[in-house]
Amino acid sequence: MERPLTQFIHPGCPPFDLREYEMTGGYAALRKALGGMTPMEVQQLVKDSGLKGRGGAGFSTGIKWGVVPMDEHAPHPKYLIANADEMEPGTFKDRLLLEGNPHQLIEGMILAAYAIQAEVSFIFLRWAYKKAAQLLRKSIHEAYVAGLLGKNILGSRFSLEMHLHTGVGRYMCGEETALLNALEGKRATPRAKPPYPQLSGLYGKPTIVNNVETLCNIPHIVNNGVSWFRGLSQSADSGTKLYGVSGKVNNPGCWELPMGVTIRELIEEHAGGMKNGYRLKGVLPGGASTDFLTADHLDVKMDFTDVQKTGSRLGTGTMVVLDDATCPVGFVHNLQHFFAQESCGLCTPCREGLPWVEKMLLSLELGTGTGQDMELLEMHTQMLGPGNTFCALAPGAMEPLQSALKYFRDDFEKHISMHRCPYD
Ligand code: NAI
Repeated sequence: MERPLTQFIHPGCPPFDLREYEMTGGYAALRKALGGMTPMEVQQLVKDSGLKGRGGAGFSTGIKWGVVPMDEHAPHPKYLIANADEMEPGTFKDRLLLEGNPHQLIEGMILAAYAIQAEVSFIFLRWAYKKAAQLLRKSIHEAYVAGLLGKNILGSRFSLEMHLHTGVGRYMCGEETALLNALEGKRATPRAKPPYPQLSGLYGKPTIVNNVETLCNIPHIVNNGVSWFRGLSQSADSGTKLYGVSGKVNNPGCWELPMGVTIRELIEEHAGGMKNGYRLKGVLPGGASTDFLTADHLDVKMDFTDVQKTGSRLGTGTMVVLDDATCPVGFVHNLQHFFAQESCGLCTPCREGLPWVEKMLLSLELGTGTGQDMELLEMHTQMLGPGNTFCALAPGAMEPLQSALKYFRDDFEKHISMHRCPYD
């Protein structure tokens, strides 16, 4: 079936420079907005489009923007930040957007900044994304020279500065308030919410932090309108989504597809099915901090609504496939090693609990685990769960563990009864 897509990415093509981006309709949305739309009209359009945040949480972008004070007494400067600190394991969708079409992000950011009347914007970029950094530096410069950034953009009364900031490679900086602390030069620990950054963010001023993919949708929504955007989807949630598949599949990759494709279609059609000799045992639908689904869930639609019904989450929409030749205990141990390393250390359950979880899983993997370890692991999934920690890092880490204990319990128990990893 021929599908109408927004052409976020052009795999295999060199990145668009300003001239090429404009030839494909780039910056037309900005001209349209600055030429005849009020900031509130842009906000309303995005709200009506049903766009939900693509960073993993799926919160309504329009509602989030709507919290920013817009009256004459609103504090200034206001800030707009693109969260490009993509570090969720298995997630590489924003990298493709940044490396393939950097002006699309810049245009989305200018439109978002216009909608909330922000004067200053930042791209908070993952340290390891060197190529993206180089391209963004060049593209921001091109935009300034063309009058698309800086004072009185395209002759309008709207002005915006844009800065590129590269992080130092900490997962925690993807959490929006830790990101704000990092930008302010402080230790990257999360802040208490509320107040949400929309009211008190960078340097205490109103701030919006949006994911790269979310922002890349904005020019297309402004250009084509609400019904077009809603019509791109084949589910209750609107638009398209960048979906990824990694693991023992024939064609791992990332594709822009209508929101709501099934897991089956993603794996069998786009990823080319499982590699010869491997069977699907489970999938983490959206990065490492989501619950496993199994072969029984292949017809679940990959949108915010349908995946949630299974007890898991869409997350970043970039799935990791677990095959039947890979030990689930080793797999989960590997993830917990990452999360334990990336805990910022601010709250005790996360700082102390995650290393214990990692140790218990290692012990099981080495064949020295006991039945009591299983009970302790179960207990930790509760103690480090939602409501018991300062931010979502540890509860996110517990999602693959608690679902692995549910779906792959036999595998855990075999490690105990055989005193070794059955997959060795
Ligand atoms: P969250 O649900 O607390 O917030 C999501 C967004 O909605 C935030 O911008 C927040 O300010 C806003 N928000 C939430 N409730 C609000 C309210 N009542 N009023 C106004 N605004 C509100 O989730 P969080 O902690 O920001 O993100 C967690 C997600 O991030 C996880 O689900 C995970 O999937 C994802 N993640 C993605 C990573 C990546 O590399 N893309 C890395 C790590 C996690």
